[in-house]
Parts: sequence; structure tokens; C-alpha cells
Amino acid sequence: MNTVTLPLGECVPALGMGTWHIGDDPGARKEEVATLRLGLDLGAKLIDTAEMYGGGRAEELVGEAIAGRRQEVFLVDKVLPSNASRRGTVAACERSLRRLKTDRIDLYLLHWRGNAPFSETVAAFMELQRAGKIRGYGVSNLDLDEMKEFVSVPGGEAVQTDQVLWNLSRRNVEWDLVPWLRQHRIPVMAYSPIEQARLLEDPRLIGFARRQGLTPAQAALSWLLAKEDVIVIPKTSRRERLSENLGALDHPLTPPQLSELERLFPAPSGPHSLEML
Ligand SMILES: NC(=O)c1ccc[n+]([C@@H]2O[C@H](COP(=O)([O-])OP(=O)(O)OC[C@H]3O[C@@H](n4cnc5c(N)ncnc54)[C@H](OP(=O)(O)O)[C@@H]3O)[C@@H](O)[C@H]2O)c1
Repeated sequence: MNTVTLPLGECVPALGMGTWHIGDDPGARKEEVATLRLGLDLGAKLIDTAEMYGGGRAEELVGEAIAGRRQEVFLVDKVLPSNASRRGTVAACERSLRRLKTDRIDLYLLHWRGNAPFSETVAAFMELQRAGKIRGYGVSNLDLDEMKEFVSVPGGEAVQTDQVLWNLSRRNVEWDLVPWLRQHRIPVMAYSPIEQARLLEDPRLIGFARRQGLTPAQAALSWLLAKEDVIVIPKTSRRERLSENLGALDHPLTPPQLSELERLFPAPSGPHSLEML
């Protein structure tokens, strides 16, 4: 498994598992639990979840999937901006821990910016860290100006990641945010790496993948995996697709293949506001 080293020194898998919409369909539950467990067996030991997903249902399902295997997993969770006050963050974390049936979250992120001042959220993160309830903290969906503001509050400089929308069809973060994060040695987590499956219908990607003997999902994931300090978190509820997605690791793209993708899906030529899903 390719790995990324976080500022706190922890080495985490570059390909993890997303969980948005997991737990929504009771009929899919057994397969979803089996998929997450298979992912752990195959080395995708980073699981990304959030209190928002299914109003806590995704966390509960993750708790079921990791029961008895907590030591193996690097667990990423997110607090909603509406809970991100000093007290609200601590209370939200404690609720998440109960749903996950664990005593700690490895990386706790602010899901996006809300009304709570960053200083309050970070103060809560530090309190949770001192209590051993979280090991590290970070953010999601912050643009460059917001990142600069976040790192300027006391404790903000310990940010471990910015989790953002990034895939072949959503490259705006490459203009200024990703270079700044790289310069500050803050790894990026790329969410919706296959654009919630819409990218898989793109004729440019389909043609490229066919020529290279890959599936479209593998090509899209390999493109992100070729980047330094990027953690990629595709979601699937099906074991077969999980195996397919993990196959991306066996097919690192060569420089000519990467150049072809760059031509097919051009990088931004100027600044844009941060996109979110
Ligand atoms: N921080 C944030 O604001 C934020 C926002 C969005 C997402 N996220 C995180 O990032 C994770 C990934 O993003 P995402 O779930 O939005 O989108 P995604 O991973 O780009 O795509 C997931 C969709 O693609 C399908 N899929 C997966 N592998 C496939 C394959 N090999 N072939 C065909 N279809 C496939 C899945 O369906 P099946 O499940 O049926 O296979 C699902 O519908 C989320 O689950 C969440 O953990 C974070």
C-alpha cells in the first residue's frame, strides 16, 4: 500500500475508504460491513466518515465493521460546522465515539466553515487531543484564504490535512490551494475521486482507460495516487468494486500516461472559488 506521512508522524494508507451514504439502505448493510472489512484485509486501513452521514448511521455501521479490529484502522471523522463551537465540538465528538463504539478518533476534521470562530473549534480539538479522544485534527472544504486564517489561530498550525473535492473533472484546487498545502507540508485528502461515479461515464476517461487496459475508476484513482502527499478516499458499498478500485495501486501511471490525462482533462488556467459536493 502507498502511504502518506501526516505532520504528526503517522503513516497512513494513500487509498482509504469513504462512507457517505453507507448505512442508508438497510438491505445493503451486510454487504457494506463486508466491504469495509475486506478493505481492511486488503490494506485500505483508513476509513473516512462524518457525523453528518445519515445523521450518524454511517458512523454506526463503521463501528460495526471495525468491531474487534480497532487497532488496525485509521479513523477519520468530521464535526458539523453547526456543532463546531468550543463546547459543541466536544459534545459532538463524544456522540461520535459512542456511535463508533471506540474511545478515540485518529483524525477529527471540521467538515466545512460555519459560524463558529476557528479559534473555538481548535481550542476544542486541543482539549479533545489532551483527553486522548482524538489523535490529530484538521479541516475540510477550506480554500486558501481560510487555510491561512486557520493556521494563524493558536493551535491551528497543527492542522493535519484539508479534505477537498479533487478529481480529473474538478481540478480547481490545483491553482493555488494544493501548491500552498504542499509548501506547508500539509497532505490533501481528495474526496469524490470518481465524482460520485459521474466521471466513469466520461468518454475521454473511458477511451483512455480502454487503451491502457484499466477500468475508468482505476484510471481516475491512479491519476490522484500519482500525486505526492494525497490520500484518496473512494466510496463503494460493494466488495467487487472495492477490489477493482484497489487495483489502481497495481497500475501506477507512467509519465506519458499522466501527460495524456493532463491533455484530456486540463488543469485550471486561473483562480476559481473552491467547489464542494
Ligand atoms: N468532506 C466532504 O465535504 C466530503 C464530501 C463528499 C465526500 N466526502 C468523502 O469522500 C468519500 C468519497 O466521495 P463520494 O462518496 O462523494 O464519491 P466517490 O467516491 O467519487 O463515488 C462514490 C460513488 O461511486 C460508485 N462507485 C465506486 N466505485 C465504483 C466503481 N469501481 N465502478 C462504478 N461505480 C463505483 C459508488 O457506488 P457503490 O457504492 O454502489 O459502489 C458511489 O455511488 C465519501 O464517501 C466521503 O467519505 C467528503
